[in-house]
Amino acid sequence: MAHMSKYSIRLYGDPVLRQRAADVQDIDGTLKQLADDMVQTMYEAPGVGLAAPQVGVQKRMFVYDTGDGEGPVTVVNPVLAEARGEWTFDEGCLSVPGLSWPIVRPKEVHLTGFDLDGNEISVEADEFLARVFQHEVDHLDGVLLVERLDEDQRKEAKRILRTRTLGLPEADPDGLRALAGDERSVRHSGL
Ligand code: NI
Repeated sequence: MAHMSKYSIRLYGDPVLRQRAADVQDIDGTLKQLADDMVQTMYEAPGVGLAAPQVGVQKRMFVYDTGDGEGPVTVVNPVLAEARGEWTFDEGCLSVPGLSWPIVRPKEVHLTGFDLDGNEISVEADEFLARVFQHEVDHLDGVLLVERLDEDQRKEAKRILRTRTLGLPEADPDGLRALAGDERSVRHSGL
């Protein structure tokens, strides 16, 4: 029998998403269980990346699986460096469901951190993987993708998100047809 994840994903407006998460002190069984539960929550969403604050846990840790066969990966106490270039990607977030915006960020980054065995990891990431890393580390700093939007995008986002909190008809749960007034396609990147 399949079992549901013990966690639900925290959504935009939840203050836990706006706080800086604390460094992980011990990589122990509790942390491994958290990682397992986060991976399950990510797959159920479905998504390709999930940071601990998104399940209400203020620890600097995220999980991801870009579907390249590497399987789910957990990164503890991640640090980003050596950002290079620019790359535009239609970025979404599991905590801001149903919405996405083309966002410009560095194309390449160098990620360091630790795995669940306490080994140091070092990954040179490009394009999509680099975007996943930047998005998830933002979550650990209490930053949501709406803060990475340009002025026009941010106005639209605020309008949609404000109306969402007032409730919207089920026929248009995202409020996009009613509010954006265009045929914009919405593609989740599920981060
Ligand atoms: Ni996200």
